[in-house]
Amino acid sequence: MNYNDPFGVVEDTSRNDKSILIISKKYILMKKKSILFFPVITGIFVFLTLQFATSFGQPFNKAPKDYSPKYLVDNLAQTPPMGWNSWNAFHTDITEQKIKDAAQALVSSGMKAAGYEYINIDDAWMDTVRDAQGRLQPDPKRFPHGIKALADYVHSLGLKIGIYESAGTKTCAGFPGSLYHEKTDAESFAKWGIDYLKLDNCSNEGVDYMQRYEGMEKALLATGRPIVYSICEWGVKDPYQWAPAISNLWRTTGDISDNWNSMINIVDEQVGLEKYAGPGHWNDPDMLEVGNGGMTNSEYRTHFSLWAILAAPLIAGNDLFHMTEPTRDILTNKEVIAVDQDPAGKQGYKISDDGNQEVWVKPMSDGSFAVLLLNRGEDRAFMTTTVEQVGLQKATSYKVVNLWDRGNRYQAGTYSTTDLIRSSVASHGVAMFRVYPESK
Ligand code: GLA
Repeated sequence: MNYNDPFGVVEDTSRNDKSILIISKKYILMKKKSILFFPVITGIFVFLTLQFATSFGQPFNKAPKDYSPKYLVDNLAQTPPMGWNSWNAFHTDITEQKIKDAAQALVSSGMKAAGYEYINIDDAWMDTVRDAQGRLQPDPKRFPHGIKALADYVHSLGLKIGIYESAGTKTCAGFPGSLYHEKTDAESFAKWGIDYLKLDNCSNEGVDYMQRYEGMEKALLATGRPIVYSICEWGVKDPYQWAPAISNLWRTTGDISDNWNSMINIVDEQVGLEKYAGPGHWNDPDMLEVGNGGMTNSEYRTHFSLWAILAAPLIAGNDLFHMTEPTRDILTNKEVIAVDQDPAGKQGYKISDDGNQEVWVKPMSDGSFAVLLLNRGEDRAFMTTTVEQVGLQKATSYKVVNLWDRGNRYQAGTYSTTDLIRSSVASHGVAMFRVYPESK
């Protein structure tokens, strides 16, 4: 046999005429295929080159990724989440008993009735290693009955339960992280009855933030359990640009500390972020420090009022079991909470700033506005604004309700458009009003 033809046609002189005819037909077909071969290869080459070019950030014929806000399962967090978290009061010193005490106190203090719902366990609930199947397990000494039993207890009080992890190889306190374990961990959380996940950013090994945070979003959705998803990325990669599409809330800054400067600096970092917040997706300026002892009660009122104006999550961070009366009064002020929880979900914004004195407003769904006069200075100040500056609709008169000063609830009562909204405001203090347009 002679195999000298490039297409492998066998010249076999022993064949009869018929077989030679079949072989030569095959030969012609293969020749035709060779004519098709080069354009097809060239086509594949051009296609791959285009794909390669578009992957370098020049969207060619590809739609840009959609980062617009979406609702997650079950329309969660339609108003900013309210609850309690263990970190600010206890840090890593947590036990099953402390979490149960907090849940009980949330009910007995009247906080549950005021709208607080989530009991969130922060860092250090875990054992230092995963189990033989690679699953997270609670610290057996501090959480001897496991997370499922704790979740059942919290649910039996009519509350919901949250947990903490990190989108990294370790949590910030050094426990096993969820990076590369998203599916397993989301399944554990769902099985235990978890309703809220805070996902931190420690030990992220430089892995792309979208890969990490979207990875957990997909894993949570795949469980089918409605779980509020709270991204704790500290505002590093402008999370308000991308987190609304994949989560319910995202931290906008580093950690809060229990002092005036830390709290007020965080407020400065919220300016301009109001356009990113709305039902189902919220900017998170971090948990509350109210009642932890590092600020005066007047400063804590300022902290709480600003969080309400910002439509921020109201996650208390104090020891609820040993809470003082003034702390309880601040955390349960229903009219201030109503400002935070307004169904329109509009985040408030600053309308004037003279260095020490600022005016903040928040439009409410009923046409009224919340108005906050903030005095950051060291001396008491007389502060004013007008209904026009606030942006209230034209009306014959305005009802003004003072939300903190109960002895002075209806300050003046009826205002005309040229009247001033005014108050003497203590150093580091606020005056907070709700102003309703009224037509006679
Ligand atoms: C980070 C977070 C905090 C807290 C700690 C826990 O610092 O930003 O809110 O969760 O980790 O280690």
